Amino acid sequence: MSLVNSNNVIALDLQDVQETLFTPLCARADQWGRPDAIVEDKTANELVRRLPYNFEKIRRYPNTLTGCAIRAEIMDGWIRDFMQTNPEGSIGLLGVGLDTTFERNRQFGNVDWFEFDYEDVIALRSKCFATHPKRHLMTGDIFNTAWIDQVKAVGKGPWLFQAAGVLMYLGPEKVNDLFHLLGRHFPGSTFLFDGCSNFAKRNSHRWEATVRTTSAQYHWSIDDPRLLASEFPGLKVTDVEYLMDHHRHQWQLNTRFWSTVLPKLRRGYHISRASFLAGPAE
Ligand SMILES: C[S@@+](CC[C@H](N)C(=O)[O-])C[C@H]1O[C@@H](n2cnc3c(N)ncnc32)[C@H](O)[C@@H]1O
Repeated sequence: MSLVNSNNVIALDLQDVQETLFTPLCARADQWGRPDAIVEDKTANELVRRLPYNFEKIRRYPNTLTGCAIRAEIMDGWIRDFMQTNPEGSIGLLGVGLDTTFERNRQFGNVDWFEFDYEDVIALRSKCFATHPKRHLMTGDIFNTAWIDQVKAVGKGPWLFQAAGVLMYLGPEKVNDLFHLLGRHFPGSTFLFDGCSNFAKRNSHRWEATVRTTSAQYHWSIDDPRLLASEFPGLKVTDVEYLMDHHRHQWQLNTRFWSTVLPKLRRGYHISRASFLAGPAE
């Protein structure tokens, strides 16, 4: 638990894609205390109780919440795999929002953590979380690449980057830029990301909590993330998990039914682990 002044209410003023961060936070918070909890996140639970945000509007979309909890569970597993093999490496959380990956996983190694988001989100994070010598807040758009030299001056490789709930809000050309950027500047790194199929993107305005409750929209989708390997030479997509294959009992009954008869629904949301070919850095 590393919250600052845990009794105070924190003022909020987030819009646009930044507002989407409340959905995965709510997802993890609401798992707390459930006998069938997908992820254990007491910090998220305490934070939700302190933030003056209308979480009830998000709770009208329980499938999105289940999906976000499953994403956190799978990504935590991959992060722990990485930390076990690279206990002195570095982890970059791109578009970190109010994620508590650090709180859930820091005990598994001595890695440096770099938490990236826009200025208003990082300002909010610093009001919420206590400082820690291994935790580094990185302010600004991830496409302003001044951060590359900054993180390399502090963190040691090997590197793992995570973009949880981020790529779908970017345009395809930006996603393309991000893969190139990581591959070029962090050869040998691991990249964890999630995404949705073309079908799920087309229907996001119907059932996706973030799209329904904020001004953010989905812009990027891909049916088969393994195909990224043919677009980015040197990229190897080693694992793809489909969210609806996990914790079936927590999905809404009608979704469970329709996803058994409609493979395109069942394969609507995926989460991937990839690695960039090792080689000399530019
Ligand atoms: C849906 S939230 C996910 C937050 C977090 N990863 C989690 O799972 O709880 C998306 C986050 O990505 C951030 N984001 C989106 N595009 C970004 C960019 N170009 N640079 C920095 N942050 C960005 C948003 O501000 C927001 O906090």
